Amino acid sequence: MQLFLDTTDVAILKDLAMTGLVDGVTTNPTLIAKSGRPMLQVIAEICAAVEGPVSAEVAAMDTAGMLDEGRKLASIAPNVVVKVPLTRDGLIATREFAQEGIATNVTLCFSAAQALLAAKAGASYISPFIGRLDDHGADGMDLIVEIRAIYDNYGFDTEILAASIRSPAHVTTAALAGSDCATIPPDVFNALFKHPLTERGLDQFMSDWAKTGQSIL
Ligand code: G3P
Repeated sequence: MQLFLDTTDVAILKDLAMTGLVDGVTTNPTLIAKSGRPMLQVIAEICAAVEGPVSAEVAAMDTAGMLDEGRKLASIAPNVVVKVPLTRDGLIATREFAQEGIATNVTLCFSAAQALLAAKAGASYISPFIGRLDDHGADGMDLIVEIRAIYDNYGFDTEILAASIRSPAHVTTAALAGSDCATIPPDVFNALFKHPLTERGLDQFMSDWAKTGQSIL
């Protein structure tokens, strides 16, 4: 499973990328706004900080505008993935990007029918938003299961990128459901390392080791 960071905070990204466990990054207009920085500069810095795919989202709502913006975003670095919304115009742009060899991440996916259309349009990634479906009273993980089944039925190459992740449990259940990737907020990513029994067990090991008076070096 590919683990991406859902962030525009370059310092936090670099800190977590040092673990070797970060396979890529996703951004969106809200995260760019929160950064308070120029989008093109942030995307360039992120692309330099990780080797993996970096999703950068268009702001245009029409196909022509998406194509112009997406080509500009794609020119920033070879690892840019152009993120487009799951709309009619977005999927028309996705098909054109596929023919131009530009990787795409189709975002704001909330139904299996939408995901089917995105795969047919040649999307590189599909981003079903688990947390927002949960917030809406649905079970976001059901969507991952449905998309996995459909994509496997027809051999679609589009990779499922579980998004709107709210907890380590979302990551685990997305992996169990066969999602190819998950994009994770930094605080949730850091929580993946932790378990109270690990901390308690390590405290006990260190306490018992100290009693031996030994040193390994
Ligand atoms: O960036 C895409 C997605 O992960 C954002 O989800 O619900 O946390 O805004 P959300």
